[in-house]
Amino acid sequence: MNFEKQQYITIKDVLSHARILISYNDARILLQNVLKINHAYIITHPEQDLTPIQIHTFQLLVKRRASGEPVSYILGECEFYSIKFKVTPSVLIPRPETELLVDLALEKISLGMSCEILDLGTGSGAIAITIAKHRALSNVTAADNSADAIAIAKTNSEYLSVNNVHFIKSDWFGELTRKKFDLIISNPPYIALNDPHLNQKDLRFEPELALVAGQDGMDCIQTIISSATSYLNAGGWLLLEHGYNQAKITKQLLKESGFINIFSRSDLAGISRVSGGRYDPPL
Ligand SMILES: C[S@@+](CC[C@H](N)C(=O)[O-])C[C@H]1O[C@@H](n2cnc3c(N)ncnc32)[C@H](O)[C@@H]1O
Repeated sequence: MNFEKQQYITIKDVLSHARILISYNDARILLQNVLKINHAYIITHPEQDLTPIQIHTFQLLVKRRASGEPVSYILGECEFYSIKFKVTPSVLIPRPETELLVDLALEKISLGMSCEILDLGTGSGAIAITIAKHRALSNVTAADNSADAIAIAKTNSEYLSVNNVHFIKSDWFGELTRKKFDLIISNPPYIALNDPHLNQKDLRFEPELALVAGQDGMDCIQTIISSATSYLNAGGWLLLEHGYNQAKITKQLLKESGFINIFSRSDLAGISRVSGGRYDPPL
């Protein structure tokens, strides 16, 4: 993008130049952030001029995006379940498909219910905080093995004024007191060590601790399922997000650990994305 010879440079000009390097949508979002305007404003004011400082700032952001850096890390925020969360490269960028996990959790907890909920591998806190916001009577414990992730999740809960979540640095259940929960939920790492996707797109910039789970991607799911029964009340639910090809093995593991009412649900792309079951302790 070189605008040195042009006297006036408009919204339309900078977007069409950026389009050579990055997608229109990404360019639009970055420009909205620089100009502090919304999408409608871009559409209705294409001829508005930019100041040299605005052009320079936008050019720097476009350069970062062109080098592959995810838009959410560039802007330091990401929308999940229509809520804005702060994110840094220390946490996974919450994905739209994970909203299914929240939908299913909210299905299990009715509005008037007071419930103990555990979110394992909370990252930015997106799942825990969203559930806590929608179910004010619930108590949510959010755990992660990364101190940086816990710090960001805490910042998010403060900035979103959510008071019914508490955070703990813990290796899965390791540091929890042996309290019992009515619902355990997790979007754990589930990518196989040698999966070529790890070297592509956004995944290159995200923390390995948030993505990789051993040779077949099942290490974390297996660990969580095998311990969950010790932390669930009778009749409590375990809900897990997993990879596109992991529903069958996840359901098998749930069955072997004594869960009943086992099910899988597909995301909007039709990919089997969440599996879960209810804990039925032996009499
Ligand atoms: C796929 S990310 C999910 C983040 C967030 N829940 C979301 O859905 O956006 C998995 C999370 O698990 C955490 N994690 C990895 N190993 C862990 C462990 N042994 N104990 C606790 N958390 C762990 C990572 O730090 C990361 O935040």
